[in-house]
Amino acid sequence: MSATDATLTVIPLSSALGARVEGLDLRQPLDGPTFAAVREAFLAHQMLCFPGQKLSADDQIRFCGYFGRADSDYKAPASILPVDERTKADYRKGVMLVTNVRKDGVPIGNLPDGDMQFHSDGAHRDSPYLATTLYGIRVPSVGGDTVFANLCTAYETLPDAMKARIEGLRVHNVYLLDATEKDEFDPDAPGMRHAVHPLVRVHPETGRKALYVNRLMSRWIEGMDRAEGEALVAELVDHSERPELIHAHKWTPGDFLIWDNRCVNHARTDFSPDEVRLLRRYTISEAA
Ligand code: SIN
Repeated sequence: MSATDATLTVIPLSSALGARVEGLDLRQPLDGPTFAAVREAFLAHQMLCFPGQKLSADDQIRFCGYFGRADSDYKAPASILPVDERTKADYRKGVMLVTNVRKDGVPIGNLPDGDMQFHSDGAHRDSPYLATTLYGIRVPSVGGDTVFANLCTAYETLPDAMKARIEGLRVHNVYLLDATEKDEFDPDAPGMRHAVHPLVRVHPETGRKALYVNRLMSRWIEGMDRAEGEALVAELVDHSERPELIHAHKWTPGDFLIWDNRCVNHARTDFSPDEVRLLRRYTISEAA
């Protein structure tokens, strides 16, 4: 059956965000009306899960291409950075394996172990990623959930006085590859990847405002006393993680997820190092 013939069913996953999409085999190309329905669901629910998929990397890249440009930067395992020519030849463009699998004791991918604080992919770059896709290949029996937070609701539930206070402010975001907690790196160290973005981000497609701040990367406020800015960021970060904004995804192999980094943060819960976790990740940027 091609996706064209499929009946697409969208089932909300929680009151916070997220929907499960049934009836599509993403090995097949999507026709225009089917993609329009997927895109509508993506904008409405901010995170979509397509269960029971059997996707190659090429299938995943094709799906990314409907939304924008599948990123093709070389994302080598942190353990073998800097990337040399041999590595480039060996390592497929754009893919990041999120996994604790090791060869000779060395991780074959990125973000191997344990829990991870909330973040938005690419917030430390001048052009953050539009969306992220993650395909579950092997998952632990307990834990290793990917947890999502709705940043539109985070903004909308701020007190009016706070909305007025943060209007027009910009936040510094800093990140070191493979860090899972902000205390693992010094934001003032030379060469850190660093970007400044509006605290209140207007979604370019829905027009909704999102509170663009996260625990892992967001640090201080442009033009504000550093300590005062850090205190404000901490207050907003705590607000952005309130339980009513959160949906935790418990993985089953074959789940394929896409989420909107413009209005969603994500984190990860802890899991046993004795169980294999292997997911294939491609990010999506605005088409040039
Ligand atoms: C990520 O933050 O890109 C990885 C999330 C996860 O491992 O669940």
